[in-house]
Amino acid sequence: MKTVDSHDEILGAQARLWSCSFGQMISMCVKCAVQLGVPDAIHKHGGGGGAVSLTALLSSLQIPPSKTEPFRCIMRILTHHAGFFNPEPPAAGSDQNDDDDEEWYSLNASSRLLLSPSDDKAAVRHTPSVLFFFHPLMQEPWAFLDRWLRDDSNRTPFEIAHGTASFWDYLKSRDPSGELMSGFYECMINDSKLVGEVVVSRCKDMFDGVTSLVDVGGGTGTMAAAVAKAFPGIQCTVLDLPHVVKDLEGEGNLGFVGGDMFVSIPSADAILLKWILHDWDEENCIKILKVCKEAISSPKGKLIIIDVVVDEKRLGERNFGEVQLCFDLFMMAFVNGKERTEKQWKRLFSAAGFSNYKISPVLGLRSVIEVFP
Ligand SMILES: C[S@@+](CC[C@H](N)C(=O)[O-])C[C@H]1O[C@@H](n2cnc3c(N)ncnc32)[C@H](O)[C@@H]1O
Repeated sequence: MKTVDSHDEILGAQARLWSCSFGQMISMCVKCAVQLGVPDAIHKHGGGGGAVSLTALLSSLQIPPSKTEPFRCIMRILTHHAGFFNPEPPAAGSDQNDDDDEEWYSLNASSRLLLSPSDDKAAVRHTPSVLFFFHPLMQEPWAFLDRWLRDDSNRTPFEIAHGTASFWDYLKSRDPSGELMSGFYECMINDSKLVGEVVVSRCKDMFDGVTSLVDVGGGTGTMAAAVAKAFPGIQCTVLDLPHVVKDLEGEGNLGFVGGDMFVSIPSADAILLKWILHDWDEENCIKILKVCKEAISSPKGKLIIIDVVVDEKRLGERNFGEVQLCFDLFMMAFVNGKERTEKQWKRLFSAAGFSNYKISPVLGLRSVIEVFP
């Protein structure tokens, strides 16, 4: 067995260790770019799709000349390492053509997600999600991982850090300014805009014969609104906790109901659970699934789950397995939930009395799972 590594192996390992230690620095650069409004400045000065020079960015963002180098460094990290901007050659005819120090950047799909929420209410923006994930209340629990692992109880790092009963309890009663709650629902709304668009266009057949649908834990109703708009013949109802839906009013074929999914769910042909079951452990998932099964009104009815199906074969893939693993830990650390493999999903479905299921991996990291009574 090999016990001594070559110098090259040790140097490579050292670089890998530094790369991990610097991970937080990279996410802080993303936060900083959002706070400074870098994507908006590139969008404005590049005329939507064009490139903008470092000099123009510095001036637009009013960064003092003394901070040119740190700003350039942050832009380089975001461009070359994090993939948030595209490095561009100088614009043709630009005065800066001969200036070796000048750099040009344009937006790409990742940085377009970080534009400010605009008048275009349908646009998908992840700016609020970045600020939510970096909120000190969301960051603090990560300092408690070792204490959490040594603690033989089911308290999460979030509960240990904030001395609260649960994340949901915190949102309901320990968030006096409502800052965390509004940040959380902004994330959900933006994700549901995208997922809603994809599901109604890629999974049309799934809604054949469905005349009523309940979006369980549907939050402020963005996902149900997308279904209601695309399929006017489906009566859509959002069920969420009373304090979440108390000020929300339905319209047309979309309505809201306050309630508890562990107790009762209104009857419908289809029950939707988007990003719900990964919030809960097996015992609670089985309880929710059993209540869902009771609520399915027609023998041809179904449950539609939108969640991660962990693919063990792709765990090493950046932006796929890597993110599935991180979501898994995130769910454990904040709400005692988890992401599941197909085998684990199958076990849950049969424990709750469902007969069959079909997984459609149409949502990137996540899948649509139809489950039949
Ligand atoms: C992760 S969010 C998902 C929201 C929405 N489905 C989406 O994907 O945008 C989980 C939702 O479950 C709701 N929830 C938690 N406990 C609940 C309960 N006992 N009954 C109904 N809804 C509940 C929360 O209020 C929250 O809106």
